[in-house]
Amino acid sequence: MHELPIFHRNTNYRRTAPLRNLFQEVRLHPADFVYPLFLIPGNNRKEAIVDMPDIYRQSLDGIFAEIEQLIPKGITAFLLFGVPDEKNPEVAFAERGFLVAGIRQIKQRFPDIVLITDICLCSYTAHGHCGHLDTLGEIDNDATILTLGKIAAAHAAAGADIVAPSAMCDGQITAIRSALNNSGQAKTLIMSYAAKFASHFYGPFREAAHCAPAMGNRKSYQLPYPNRREALQKVQAECDEGADILMVKPALLYLDIIREVRENFLQPVAAYNVSGEYASLRKMAEKDPAAGRQIIREALMAIKRSGADIIISYHAKDITGLLET
Ligand code: PBG
Repeated sequence: MHELPIFHRNTNYRRTAPLRNLFQEVRLHPADFVYPLFLIPGNNRKEAIVDMPDIYRQSLDGIFAEIEQLIPKGITAFLLFGVPDEKNPEVAFAERGFLVAGIRQIKQRFPDIVLITDICLCSYTAHGHCGHLDTLGEIDNDATILTLGKIAAAHAAAGADIVAPSAMCDGQITAIRSALNNSGQAKTLIMSYAAKFASHFYGPFREAAHCAPAMGNRKSYQLPYPNRREALQKVQAECDEGADILMVKPALLYLDIIREVRENFLQPVAAYNVSGEYASLRKMAEKDPAAGRQIIREALMAIKRSGADIIISYHAKDITGLLET
């Protein structure tokens, strides 16, 4: 008998679909996802967002309808952005403001969801930067973190389970943790956008949240994308300040950073699959939706495989289509 050479038959793992299923290392599950929502004041308002099909800025009635549709699909965590009509930072924490009132009503209506609120000033300042500016036109870091603390405390009191500061200020976690604790909100978690890069993939979001900087850019506070160590330093700092969840943003071009944060820290890691990533993949999916879903699924799987425990993604809206093989 002719003797077969001994070599590893790696393809045996994947000969049939049931074998491939048995050996699949990573699976997407609706519980992995957080779906972003854009709340605007008023009633019966629903505005389309350029380059982001199926995503809308909407008033509370629309937000309710959207959450109601997603809960049966297994999506139960939401990241809320307030998009005010009026550019005034106080609107972000005013007790009677549309955002705090909206948070309260969302949590009253859906007590079983996880409600995460974005903590930043960029949608609330006329200049569109993420913090207050000083007389030189630079970010006034220390004044900003006090305002971020006020916003976080107001959101937590209204029912936010997790607050998510995205301003990339130094000391933002310390300021927010102390504002929360001092206002009786010690149980509120903080998801820090620690490794947030100055990315060119935020374009569609800035239109969605009306927060494009009127002058300059965000490079003086967001991370430079060539720098991995600087990112890890910022993650370490926010970790030391007591961040409960560490975020890397964007996700798809930063899988190496996700992997590194996952391996070097014990906190849950979140990855934000941002607006420009969504827009590009949806563009690719336009001509052939079935093939498009496979492309999107592959991208989301890569984010999970890189080590993300939580995936914040606009694609979560189509989760049912994405889980099918
Ligand atoms: C604002 C903020 C941005 C995003 C989330 N929070 C934009 C920015 O920093 O310019 C981007 C989200 C996305 O692109 O989906 N601080």
